[in-house]
Amino acid sequence: MSIRIQEKDRLFSLETENTMYQMKADELNVLLHVWYGQKTCADMSYLIRMSDRGFCGNPWESQNRREYSLDTLPQEYSSAGVGDYRSPALCAELENGSRSTDWRYAGYRLLKGKTRPSGLPGLRGSAETEGLEICLEDKTSGLKAYLTYWVFEALDVIVRSTRIENRGEAAVTLRKAASVCIDFPYGKKEVIHFHGRHAMERVMERNPVPRGGQLTFESRRGMSSHQSNPFVILCDPDTTERQGEAWGCMLMYSGNHLEEISCCQTASVRLVSGIHPECFSWPLNPGESFHTPEAILSYSAEGLNALSRNYHRVIRDEVIPPRWRGVRKPVLVNSWEACYFDFNAEKLLKLAVAAKELGMEMLVLDDGWFGERNDDTTSLGDWFCNEKKLGCGLKELSERIHALGLYFGLWLEPEMISARSDLYRNHPDWALTDPDRKPMVGRNQLVLDMSRQEVQDYLFDAISRILKDARIEYIKWDFNRCVANVWSHALPAGRQGETAHRFIMGTYALLERLEEAFPDVMIEGCSGGGGRFDAGMLYYCPQIWCSDDTDAVERLEIQRGTSFGYPACAMGSHVSACPNHQTGRIVPFATRGMVAMSGTFGYELNPEKLSAEEKETVKQQIAAFHRFEGLIAEGDYYRLDDAGGDETAWLFVSPDQKEALLTVVVTHVRAYSPFPLVRLQGLDPDGTYRREDTGETVTGAALMYGGISFPPFMGDYPAAQVYLTQVDEN
Ligand code: GLA
Repeated sequence: MSIRIQEKDRLFSLETENTMYQMKADELNVLLHVWYGQKTCADMSYLIRMSDRGFCGNPWESQNRREYSLDTLPQEYSSAGVGDYRSPALCAELENGSRSTDWRYAGYRLLKGKTRPSGLPGLRGSAETEGLEICLEDKTSGLKAYLTYWVFEALDVIVRSTRIENRGEAAVTLRKAASVCIDFPYGKKEVIHFHGRHAMERVMERNPVPRGGQLTFESRRGMSSHQSNPFVILCDPDTTERQGEAWGCMLMYSGNHLEEISCCQTASVRLVSGIHPECFSWPLNPGESFHTPEAILSYSAEGLNALSRNYHRVIRDEVIPPRWRGVRKPVLVNSWEACYFDFNAEKLLKLAVAAKELGMEMLVLDDGWFGERNDDTTSLGDWFCNEKKLGCGLKELSERIHALGLYFGLWLEPEMISARSDLYRNHPDWALTDPDRKPMVGRNQLVLDMSRQEVQDYLFDAISRILKDARIEYIKWDFNRCVANVWSHALPAGRQGETAHRFIMGTYALLERLEEAFPDVMIEGCSGGGGRFDAGMLYYCPQIWCSDDTDAVERLEIQRGTSFGYPACAMGSHVSACPNHQTGRIVPFATRGMVAMSGTFGYELNPEKLSAEEKETVKQQIAAFHRFEGLIAEGDYYRLDDAGGDETAWLFVSPDQKEALLTVVVTHVRAYSPFPLVRLQGLDPDGTYRREDTGETVTGAALMYGGISFPPFMGDYPAAQVYLTQVDEN
């Protein structure tokens, strides 16, 4: 039983294999957050203490009990304007202009059979998944907040979302509706977040949560963004990769988001996460409801690596489309860095022949095949093959590619529209544009109003036509600018605050329809690289292009940061040409292969231009990838570079601990440096492992506590890969 309810104490415990989440409705019907941490199976509310504190007011019904204050008690969904001065979970503007909501417990319901928030992605679960819905009410307005919890016991994951329903008699406007609010009452905390920019996404940073202050991580860009991933980790100051407590909160959402982490006067830390309120308002008429995105929560007492593995498992098992779960993906070659906009069918076919000879399995035709597109100034929205440029149609091209023994993939950027396009000439109001302003352009393009059904229908028809006509196994779904001028020509003035959220729901609806109609076409997400790398997009796209920066050294940081929340099987990573197109850096071919192989693997170069030696290397890389792809996609992942220094190292261990793949990349070789030493993790301590490269046999315990020592590396950015298998000692 994953949900235990002690009726008498009104205590709710959600239990996973190793964790417990606990709440309690107190004597004033305030729902207190009691515990999220190790599974103790005890009533942890004894830890909540009250004392009279100045300038912390008391609710009227407490009858002046000066120690009882909403301002200091740990809240499960914080009220607004009635005495808790920390961040509210919800802000609503009532008909009389009041902005207060006072949440009180009003009952619960056990749930069975996972459902999703309407119009949004959610963890898949099954008919057996157990959940709890707690109803809070604000008696004055008639608003109800249904806090929904689903328990994924074996994964150590709890999923939260909130449904707000207006049961009152007057309309209200939601100005903020967070998915989750948690108060962590004990001890100092640090917060890890993932910031970045185009071509340098998800850089991990760790900061103490300041006393009396607040850290916010956010996107107002209409997308989850390169700049701030909707994923944060709270941890104790002494938590490392290998030990200590860590709590993760990942919003399953691809639009504007806000994570607020504050530390109040009593040193308790509050985390609030949800849709960004600044770009949002939602009128709720009597009887209407609003559903927030889900937040995926996980806790580990065993360090950051263990927390990451919880997220890897939940994304693999419960987020990505089941059709692609554990499925071998073809090693692809993408035309973008190979020829940018400069191609025709003959050129592509020559590239395909060379790719096939080296063992590549799919050609992806990137940007430039449609409308009149020869650069990025035109044609988005005109999803018709430019036969004049290609020299044939997509059908013929795809058949000729298939005849060579390769699959065929195609690039699309459905949510965009070029001002220079037939689509814009015919439907200028389909773009998000502020009626009285010149729109912001990004990469010369505007953004389609995905909130409109006719826009979704147009795109569904246009994409369906292509997929029915040509033989296409894969789509790269791009999104190459931030959203601005968020004004829908289809919504009245008072409802424009809905546009940004409706935009994302429109994208989700289109993806869902296409997936239902073409279940065998795999969609790889992309947004100028990894600008929309989030659990919402992963619900539709089993993998996402990690970054437009294909430099293997830069990728170490990008893929490392990404690995805190997302599994290797979701990280689009390719070997590209040198000098690298983004940085000009020259990195050995072998190193580029090892880095790209720790994701979905492919090539982003013209194979015809490779030297004979490089071609041999490519063949070996592809063979190596095929040997290890199961281990990489399904294995347990460990970051091993917590000691810092010049080496970045990571390890995949098979779930049965029988095999492991270690990769080490040295970013700065120094003369007469100490011997690089990497201590492994996750092996069977009693097992004996053979190193394939040296033939040595060593126990798992020795490899984990002693480590593997390497002779000094030489040259620029050298790397090593060590494959270990467990051997029978006898
Ligand atoms: C984005 C993608 C690239 C490429 C270009 C094409 O930047 O991330 O990989 O597809 O668009 O315009």
